[in-house]
Amino acid sequence: MELLNPRAHKKYLDGTIGSGGHTAQLLMLSAPDGEVLGLDWDEAAILAVQQQLGGFEDRLILRRANFTEAKELLKEISWRKVDGILLDLGISSHHIDSPERGFSFQSEAHLDMRMDRRQSLDAYRVVNTFSVSELERILREYGEEPKARRIALAIDAERKRKAIATTKDLAEIVKRVVRRSTGRIHPATRTFQALRIAVNRELENLKEFLTDAYDLLLSKGRMVVISFHSLEDRLVKTAFRKWVRSCLCPPAAIICQCGWSQKALLLTSKPLRPTVEEIRVNPRARSAKLRAVERL
Ligand SMILES: C[S@@+](CC[C@H](N)C(=O)[O-])C[C@H]1O[C@@H](n2cnc3c(N)ncnc32)[C@H](O)[C@@H]1O
Repeated sequence: MELLNPRAHKKYLDGTIGSGGHTAQLLMLSAPDGEVLGLDWDEAAILAVQQQLGGFEDRLILRRANFTEAKELLKEISWRKVDGILLDLGISSHHIDSPERGFSFQSEAHLDMRMDRRQSLDAYRVVNTFSVSELERILREYGEEPKARRIALAIDAERKRKAIATTKDLAEIVKRVVRRSTGRIHPATRTFQALRIAVNRELENLKEFLTDAYDLLLSKGRMVVISFHSLEDRLVKTAFRKWVRSCLCPPAAIICQCGWSQKALLLTSKPLRPTVEEIRVNPRARSAKLRAVERL
């Protein structure tokens, strides 16, 4: 909130409202007339925040949408640009704590993992129909799973016998391959994280949004992104570093021909990490990295 610096008369985009915690702060700190457009592609999040923040009805606009649609939505409500953008990526505590959504290997549920339940691709389809090499790639890249190949092969052997339908079925297969868990994490943690990222196209969405997100900001407007995965953070770091450059020509170029100009200033030279105390109170924050920029 310090980095977004919410003020009266200003407009904010919260691209990932989740349980509405950040949106509530934005609304309170921008009183009496600051406005927020809050997006989430999960209907459950929109309905919950609608109820919870009903008192802010005149200053809060909610839409069930992918944040990649922000540009069109801003046009639709005649805002065009905003004074601040927040993305707090990944799944919400609500997702983790709702066993029926299939994100957790701790409870028995259909292999779903869709944040947006309108989409047809779910974890069941990924696990039962993707090729062994594609499964291996997903597990290795998104889960950083050292036993990606062996898990992909074990999945393939099992699904040839019978479809892998539930979170527990999948967790059992992974457990058989990864007998000893590394450190404190459950052997299926990496596999479940990888599948979730693939099902929801999380990296693709972030990459698309970051292509020209600076364009949604007014001059001096700020953008804050909180990520929870090294690949997400790399995308944010790369985009922000590009935005602060004044030229994109190769170093050997004598005359600038790229037509690029500097878009923003970095507000965080290194990502901000939660303190030990914050992690103690909220262990789910442990891998969070926050980066911020200001539009020129
Ligand atoms: C970590 S939670 C956000 C928590 C929120 N900041 C709060 O204060 O409660 C991430 C939320 O973003 C949503 N989400 C993730 N990717 C999205 C996308 N591409 N478009 C829209 N919502 C997305 C998820 O459904 C989830 O509710």
